Amino acid sequence: MIVYPSDSRPNDMYKLMVGSITPRPIALVSSISKAGVFNLAPYSFFTGVSANPPAIGFSPLITGKDKIRDSRNNIEETKEFAVNIVSESLVEQMNVASSDVPPEVDEFALSQLTPAHANIVSCPLVKESRINMECRLIEIVEVSNKLLGGAFILGEIVCFHIDDEVVENFRIDPDTLDTVGRMGGSSYTRTRDRFELVRPDSKIS
Ligand SMILES: Cc1cc2nc3c(=O)[nH]c(=O)nc-3n(C[C@H](O)[C@H](O)[C@H](O)COP(=O)(O)O)c2cc1C
Repeated sequence: MIVYPSDSRPNDMYKLMVGSITPRPIALVSSISKAGVFNLAPYSFFTGVSANPPAIGFSPLITGKDKIRDSRNNIEETKEFAVNIVSESLVEQMNVASSDVPPEVDEFALSQLTPAHANIVSCPLVKESRINMECRLIEIVEVSNKLLGGAFILGEIVCFHIDDEVVENFRIDPDTLDTVGRMGGSSYTRTRDRFELVRPDSKIS
């Protein structure tokens, strides 16, 4: 099957992408509105972008006419956000945080997750996450303002919060962190079935 996006429906392109780009890590993105309302939402169009400086990015999509995600609006206003890592123990609350609710709704309260103070940015962190990354906005790369179009929100990590139980000498213990990944539709995967593959010429790992 050959697919040319120019001849295809956006919804089908979305289905191809979420089924092919798997498993996707999940950023539970926290932000604060200008009015001071806490916001929380999961994003799996999410990746690391640079380690020097450490930078990450995620993509809010447009799902209706002029429908800009609250996370994006907040980050445009405050230039700050945090990414909270999702362990399997947090999946139910993460799912609640994905509810499509008005910007006045505090999604920490809705999902029964605890806001914690950040060290540098003004938005809250998720206390229950074992790793939080405080981020300052670098840039919002606008790709398209059409239906299912999106933008890439790129942020520099200015502070990591890491539970001492999951880290030793900067190495994260995957068993203790126990992250999950997103597959297509409402399907998720655990990260416990791992194998080793050493790179032929690797000096770093
Ligand atoms: C696991 C998971 C991953 C998601 N990933 C994305 C994503 O990458 N981009 C997106 O636009 N929406 C994504 N969503 C949907 C948003 O979380 C949802 O629309 C949410 O209400 C947006 O919240 P906000 O308006 O407070 O930013 C995802 C939902 C779930 C459950």
